[in-house]
Amino acid sequence: MTSAAVLVAAGSGRRMGSPSGARPKQMLPLAGKPLIAYSIDVFSAMEEIQALCIVTQPEWRKEIEALDAIRTLRKPLYWATGGDRRQDSARNGLRALPADTSLVAIHDAARPFPPPQAIAKALQYARKHGGAILAMPVTDTIKKMGNDGVIADTVDRSSLWAAQTPQVFQRDLLMRAYAYADEKGIDVTDDASACEALGHSIGIIPGSRFNLKVTTPEDLILAEAIAQTSQDAAAPHRLS
Ligand code: CTP
Ligand code: MG
Repeated sequence: MTSAAVLVAAGSGRRMGSPSGARPKQMLPLAGKPLIAYSIDVFSAMEEIQALCIVTQPEWRKEIEALDAIRTLRKPLYWATGGDRRQDSARNGLRALPADTSLVAIHDAARPFPPPQAIAKALQYARKHGGAILAMPVTDTIKKMGNDGVIADTVDRSSLWAAQTPQVFQRDLLMRAYAYADEKGIDVTDDASACEALGHSIGIIPGSRFNLKVTTPEDLILAEAIAQTSQDAAAPHRLS
């Protein structure tokens, strides 16, 4: 029973405002090392994860290979090339893994601080039931805006969760889900949505507020602060 992490790192970071062809957000420095190195380190240290696959555009592969996080990795490492959409990249990653991989944890390389304890729980859940994602309860009051630009409705947030990654699945299930999404022409922004479209129940495991996705330049400032704090042994809150 092999569990592998698939790091999707082939996006171009349009919402960061990076001009096309520029250094994508996952390759930007964060407290001294590239953003992608943080999540590689997390999966590298987890004994529940036995292999890693990195999905990237070919022009960034050399730079990733040279990272300490990769040079010190003591697990089989696979590479895949990114696709047009996140779901294409995830699918390429799945295909690059050996057939005896039973569980896959798909993770956005743009999230530098995935919480290992929650990931371990998601792996356990997915092994038993098929799939589980990390997510956080929504804390803001959620408004729906009408076409006229004013509030149309206030949505009851008591059952709303914001999806994070990693999202963990039995590999066969996720392969089937992505094949189905492809066949039906369904666009999804996370992996669970593909399984939901297939009609499969997916569990929710509480993630972490620190597990933010770096999407805009403001997020980079927050991530930098978290990275600095987590390096401080006397920090009041540790990343877990
Ligand atoms: N991703 C990918 N392949 C794509 C699109 C996205 O591997 N074709 C990855 C990104 O590198 C990121 C994760 O999926 O780690 C989450 O995607 P997102 O935050 O949307 O990143 P980008 O697509 O790069 O950003 P944007 O949508 O702002 O362009
Ligand atoms: Mg995107």
